Amino acid sequence: MSPRQLMALIVLATAVLATIATSNVIVVMADDQDILLDSMSVMLNVKSLIADRGITYERHYCTVSWCCPSRVNFLTGKAAHNTNVTGLESPWGGWPKFVNQGLNKNYLQVWLSDAGINTYYVGKFMNAYTTENFYTPAPRGSTDFSMLLEPGCYDFLNSIWNEGNKVVKKPGVHTQKITNDKALQYLDDAAESKKPFFLMVAPVAPHVEITQSGVVINPPPMPAQKGLFNDRVAPRRKNFNPDVSSGASWVANKRKLTEKEVKAGDAHHASRLRSIAGIDDMVKMIVDKLKDKKLLDNTYIIYTSDNGYHISNHRLLPGKRCGYEEDISIPLLITGPGIPQKQTSRIVSSHTDLAPTILKLFNIPQRPDFDGSVIEYTSNALKNSKRKETVNVAFWDSDVAHESVEQKKTTAAQVYNNVWKSVRLQTAYGDFYYSVWCDGSKEFYDMDDDFAQMSNPLRSQAATAAYAKQYFSRPFPQLLARLDTLLLITKTCKGDSCRNPWRVAFPNGKVKYLYDAMDAKYDEFFARQPKVDSECVPGDIRERSGPAEVNVFGWGGKRERERRGLWEREEGC
Ligand SMILES: *[C@@H]1O[C@H](CO)[C@@H](O)[C@H](O)[C@H]1NC(C)=O
Repeated sequence: MSPRQLMALIVLATAVLATIATSNVIVVMADDQDILLDSMSVMLNVKSLIADRGITYERHYCTVSWCCPSRVNFLTGKAAHNTNVTGLESPWGGWPKFVNQGLNKNYLQVWLSDAGINTYYVGKFMNAYTTENFYTPAPRGSTDFSMLLEPGCYDFLNSIWNEGNKVVKKPGVHTQKITNDKALQYLDDAAESKKPFFLMVAPVAPHVEITQSGVVINPPPMPAQKGLFNDRVAPRRKNFNPDVSSGASWVANKRKLTEKEVKAGDAHHASRLRSIAGIDDMVKMIVDKLKDKKLLDNTYIIYTSDNGYHISNHRLLPGKRCGYEEDISIPLLITGPGIPQKQTSRIVSSHTDLAPTILKLFNIPQRPDFDGSVIEYTSNALKNSKRKETVNVAFWDSDVAHESVEQKKTTAAQVYNNVWKSVRLQTAYGDFYYSVWCDGSKEFYDMDDDFAQMSNPLRSQAATAAYAKQYFSRPFPQLLARLDTLLLITKTCKGDSCRNPWRVAFPNGKVKYLYDAMDAKYDEFFARQPKVDSECVPGDIRERSGPAEVNVFGWGGKRERERRGLWEREEGC
C-alpha cells in the first residue's frame, strides 16, 4: 500500500470511528451549591459513581456568581460581558434578554441539535422564564424540555412546569421528585430514539425556597428528608464571622453577625445538605437507568453548579454574588468513556469552557466566537496542560439589598453598589485573587498564604507583610501593576483575547504567563498602562466602565495604534 493510500485509509477509519464512537452527555447542574462549605461531603453517590470513576477539577469557577448570568455563560461559552446577560431581570438579564440578544438562536442546544443530537432539558432554566413567556419563543434546539416556570420555580411543594406548550401545576409533590421522574423519562425517550443525546438536568436544590406569594421559608430550603444532618453546622473557616472585618468596600464595613444570625445560618446549612442529598440520590437513579438501558459505557456525566455560596463567611449572611472563593469556586466532575479514574486536577477552568468541552465530547468543531476553550480530560492532556492561568470574574448589581434573599423580604432593603471586576489566577509561582470595585476599593489575596482571604493589604496602604514580600523576586507593587493590566484586558476580552489575554499587550508572543510579564524590562510599560476604573452602574454600560484599551508593547500608545489601524483588539491580535 502506498503512503497515500495508507493515509486515505486512516482518514476513512477515523471518520467511521468518529460516527460509531459518538457518545452522549449528561450535565447535572445544581443551584447555588458550594465546594468550600463542604457540601460535596454528603454526595456519596457522586463520589463513588463520578469522582471515583472520573476527574474532580479543584479549580473550576463561575464567572458571575449569580444564577442567570452564570447559566447563560455556561449555555453560550461566552463571558457575561459578551452576552450582556449580567443580571436576573430586564433590562440586565433574564430569559427575555437572552432572546433579545439573539442568544436563543446561538447557544449550546441549537449547536447540538444542528449536529443531529437529541437534546433534553429538565429543571431550572433561567430567571424571568415564566408561565407567560415560556413558549414565546420556546428554547430553540430542544427535542423536548420541561422547565420550572416562575412564579412556581422555587415553590418546592407547589412547583409549576411546562409540559409541551401546557402549564402544569404540581401541588403536594416535592420538586426534586418531579425532577427525578422527568430526567428518567427523558432517558427512556433518548434510549428509544437510538440517537446520540444531550440531557441537561437542573434541579432547583439547594436554592432557598420562595413560595408563590413571595414568602421565603426559613430555614430554607425544604428538606427532602427531615432531620438528616441536623448535627452539621456551617464550616468554621478562618473567615467565619471574624472578629475583625475583612474584604473591601461594603463588605469591610459589615458588623459582626449576632449569635442568632449564626445559628440561623447553621440551620440553613443543614437543610442545604439535606437538599443536596436529594440531588445525590437522583445521580444514582440516573446512573442506574443508564446501566439498565446499556448506555453507561458511552455516556459522559458532568456534575457542576451554577455558582457557589457563603454562610457567615466575611460576616455575610447566607448568599452568593461576591467574588470570594466560597462564591466562585464550584464543583466540576466528569466521568465517561476514556476519562481517567479517581483523578484530581488543579488546572484552571470556568463555566465559559464547558460549552467548548461539550462540543468536543460530541466531536463537533469549536466555534470561532467562543471565549472559552476545551477543558482537558485525558490523562496525557491533563499532565501536559498549558492552560490559561486566569479566570475573569465580575459582578454588576447596584441598588439591591445584597445581604440575602431572606433579608430583602423581611427588612428594609439596604442599597449597596456590588459592582466589581476581578481576576483569579493560579500560576506555577503563586495563586492570587485581585479585584477592583466601582467605588475604587481594591483587594489582593495571596491565596497560598491566605486562602480564606482575610488580609487584604490594599484596604489601607499601611505597611503590611504583603508590601514587604517579594513575588517572582520582584516587589509587590510590580505584581499589582501586572494584575491591573491583566484585569483591564480580561474585563472586555473577546474570543482569543480571553483565552490568551497577555497577547493583547504583547502580540509578539513573548509574554504568555504572568511570570514572563514580571520581567523588570516591562516595569515602565506597565507603569504607564491605564487602570480599571468603572462607575457604579448596574450593568455592562461601556461608556461608564472606564478605560478598556491597553497600550501594546512596542506600539506606543493608543493613538499610535489607531494611526496604524491596529487598535481593534477583538479576536486574534
Ligand atoms: C447591555 O445592556 C444594557 C441594558 O439594555 C445596555 O444599557 C448596555 O449598553 C448594554 N451593553 C453592551 C456592552 O451592549
